[in-house]
Amino acid sequence: MMVNKPPMGINTWNTFGSKIDEKLIMQMADTLVESGLKDLGYEYLVIDDCWSQKKRDKDGRLVPDKNKFPNGMKAVADYVHSKGLKFGMYSCVGTMTCAGYPGSYRHEYIDAQTFAEWGVDFLKYDYCYRSKSTAGVESYRKMSTALKATGRDILFSACSWGHDDTHKWIDTTGANIWRATTDIKDSWKKVKELVSVSNEIGNLNFINCFTDLDMLIVGMRGMGFCAEGGCTDDEYITHFSYWAFFGSPLMIGCDIRDMDEKTFSILSNKDIIEINQDSELNRPYLLRCSDAMIDKIEVPGYAKQLSNGDIALAFFNFSDEKTASRYVTLDMIGLDADIPLECTVKDLWSGEALEISNDTIRVEKIEPHCCKVYRISVKAV
Ligand code: GLA
Repeated sequence: MMVNKPPMGINTWNTFGSKIDEKLIMQMADTLVESGLKDLGYEYLVIDDCWSQKKRDKDGRLVPDKNKFPNGMKAVADYVHSKGLKFGMYSCVGTMTCAGYPGSYRHEYIDAQTFAEWGVDFLKYDYCYRSKSTAGVESYRKMSTALKATGRDILFSACSWGHDDTHKWIDTTGANIWRATTDIKDSWKKVKELVSVSNEIGNLNFINCFTDLDMLIVGMRGMGFCAEGGCTDDEYITHFSYWAFFGSPLMIGCDIRDMDEKTFSILSNKDIIEINQDSELNRPYLLRCSDAMIDKIEVPGYAKQLSNGDIALAFFNFSDEKTASRYVTLDMIGLDADIPLECTVKDLWSGEALEISNDTIRVEKIEPHCCKVYRISVKAV
């Protein structure tokens, strides 16, 4: 399947873990539509682990848990589709899923067939309980082939947590997104840890195989299955901005049925979403604008070329105490001061304009754990 921008949607795992059922999925579908999130691009509704019975049926097929999904998965998929959304499910390369339900090892073709019959549009494929005799790369290739053989377009989401140098082989498997990190938790500490993994692998992103930094924790507020103390609003903004800037899939992880206004305002920031979904998918680059006082690792600045000629800028303050300031000269970001261009700079979180003076953009007071994200509109004069 060709996927030309980072997928957006929602996944059950971060908040609900094993506490999922048909009613919840239907309510999530309703809320995606009614809140306006669907219209902003959040289109995949993905059921994660713990949806099946512990045993396959006599024909070797996966069976939905009868208490959680009494009408079967086709009925759930039909409901999700009736709302104009896409339906995602979960399985695993191993004999069991991470939570101990049947995995797809040696059942790849029958499972792919089952998912296709149910109307699945997205398969998350985890990495637990894998066979020692089969390399991860082979397991992913096998499921990818099995999915294609169904004839249905199914987005293939690999979830091997970056293990076994996933980045060296994942784009040979047909996976459309790939998890580069271990599991996120609802804490600033974890966000920082995942950011450093992203840095280690060079913030890379492949065509048709997007680097997945894991589901979003925005709005979880210390509750739900992956709770770990929660984050402040500023930290959620920094996390969301980073994921968006680096082209990660944007999969909501909070309970949207119960989201507060601030959560919605973060998740629905169109300007930030546009940077994530920009059609050229250019990789951001690190700016050489470090403040003499502060290590640039702690407060990095990045720029990213956008498809219409605009430039996105972002500064992330990962330090705990230091408020930082940054400046960027136009020539650092490919805007030659001698070429007659008209540039305007918009702060994508406050909406305010920022002045360019002496061909320099000065960004003041980036507070600890906060970020600043700008779009420079560039017009020829
Ligand atoms: C792994 C994955 C998570 C989630 C759980 C389900 O830990 O990385 O995203 O899917 O399994 O058991």
